[in-house]
Amino acid sequence: MDDFDYLEFEWHDDGVAQLTISRPDALNALNKDVLSELVALITDLDSDELRALIITGEGRAFVAGADIAAMKEMTAEEAEEFGRLGHRTMNAIESLPVPTIAAVNGFALGGGLELALSCDLIYLSESAKVGLPEVGLGIIPGFGGTQRLGRTIGWHQARRLVFTGEQLSAEEAAAIGLGIEVVDDDALFDRVLDVASTIAANGPVAVAKAKTVMRKGADATLQEGIAGEIQAFADLWDTHDRSEGMEAFLDRRSADFQGS
Ligand code: COA
Repeated sequence: MDDFDYLEFEWHDDGVAQLTISRPDALNALNKDVLSELVALITDLDSDELRALIITGEGRAFVAGADIAAMKEMTAEEAEEFGRLGHRTMNAIESLPVPTIAAVNGFALGGGLELALSCDLIYLSESAKVGLPEVGLGIIPGFGGTQRLGRTIGWHQARRLVFTGEQLSAEEAAAIGLGIEVVDDDALFDRVLDVASTIAANGPVAVAKAKTVMRKGADATLQEGIAGEIQAFADLWDTHDRSEGMEAFLDRRSADFQGS
């Protein structure tokens, strides 16, 4: 994998990988370079090996938003291009075939919360602070926040957070479904690794199908979503992992999944 200026990438056991956004002097704020690196890294990921991806930030922030100093100088055309790059980034993360987990270790504001929302699961450290403060800058969330937040926590709470720009504590966020669990700062990484390893131990093709069907279903009618589920359920029948998983259960042993 290429060298990146603002990203660190490492493999843990069992196909679990970790991507750390590393621009700590600016609380990991997303400028064009960071976004371009993210798109490049995500696009190049070897998903044959990958079972789950953890995304986190270096230092005291997850990501404190899009880069305000850079945005201040942009023309409307440049802002549109920047918005499109942000969307390419979030869409690339959302479309990864494996589950993604945001380990929100500190500030996740604006583009940082939008990045977390493009992941499948959000875990929060005790000191995390989340929100969409853009209206306080005279703009709106531009990397998916006006769309993904409502789809995640419901439109009523989403409107509150977008209109007020309020920053929530981890406890407040988890109480409205913006995060699965609040974990001690020191324990966040172990907890998230544990969840990722649990996911990685399951049938990879099944997990990927489940993700696709659920993601597509969220934007479909119920009957369209059900049609997708029926097809995916049947598609799994001829996989090695389906026969192995069922045989292993009946033999009372752990399954040896191959991802095929
Ligand atoms: N864009 C660019 N730079 C940012 C940034 C952002 N979104 N968020 C933080 N930074 C920079 C600060 O400018 C500062 O840089 P400096 O040391 O060169 O002055 C550095 O990161 C540290 O931030 P600072 O504000 O000094 O830390 P703090 O602990 O006092 O406050 C925050 C932390 C997150 C509350 C505050 O930085 C903040 O409100 N950031 C902007 C959040 C936001 O509006 N995000 C949405 C953008 S669309």
